[in-house]
Amino acid sequence: MTWIDLANPVPKAAPESYAPIMWEVGEIYTLPLLSGGPNRPFYDVLDERVSHREFGAVKDDQLGSFLWVACRTRWSSASNLGFDLEHRAAPSAGAIHPIHIVIKRPDDDRWWLYEPRTHQLLELKHARTNLAGLYNQSMLVLDGGLAIQVLFIAEPGKTLGKYQNGCSLVWRDAGVLLGVMALTATAQGLNFCPLGITGEPWASALADQGKLVGVGLALLGSVASS
Ligand SMILES: Cc1cc2nc3c(=O)[nH]c(=O)nc-3n(C[C@H](O)[C@H](O)[C@H](O)COP(=O)(O)O)c2cc1C
Repeated sequence: MTWIDLANPVPKAAPESYAPIMWEVGEIYTLPLLSGGPNRPFYDVLDERVSHREFGAVKDDQLGSFLWVACRTRWSSASNLGFDLEHRAAPSAGAIHPIHIVIKRPDDDRWWLYEPRTHQLLELKHARTNLAGLYNQSMLVLDGGLAIQVLFIAEPGKTLGKYQNGCSLVWRDAGVLLGVMALTATAQGLNFCPLGITGEPWASALADQGKLVGVGLALLGSVASS
């Protein structure tokens, strides 16, 4: 067995300021806010959550509700790290939230970055080319049909500015976000399945060497009608 020891994270005595990536974006789409969907008791949601592997189309109001609950920034506060700290549904080491959510709808070959502070989708320039191979790879793992592809892209420099040996924190942030998304999908009557592939080597091609890294993928769909 080969276990890669990511070592124990330790806060740096003097945090290094980090300049977050500036994305090249095209079209901007403001998502619908939370719409009145099913309001299931939390324990029922925990009991009902399963991975589904058949997917119907997701409407924009369903996608908006999903991202609003699972991913939006509820509030932020200033820091000395070069960017604001944020509070969202998922916990994040140091309140840093180094993971970006990038989605691709089934009827659109563009990839869109979710902006959690404004609840908008930002079309990523160049992603269509850079992520084409990733889309093919994910279809080999699980043919998502009408699912939305949800790509987790980490910007490790945010976390590593504060923590020495911080890589495991980024992976744990990805895991906890995956769990929050899975439960949110269940609560909203949507189908969700994590994929084991990371998104590499395609995700990192979206920025200069080492700035971005793929840390997972998931599929989101409506309950498929057979
Ligand atoms: C990190 C992670 C990676 C996974 N990768 C895949 C995958 O590549 N393909 C797939 O069909 N399911 C994948 N799954 C879903 C698991 O197979 C599923 O959670 C497991 O079978 C338990 O079933 P349940 O989620 O319905 O409880 C993944 C789950 C996790 C947490």
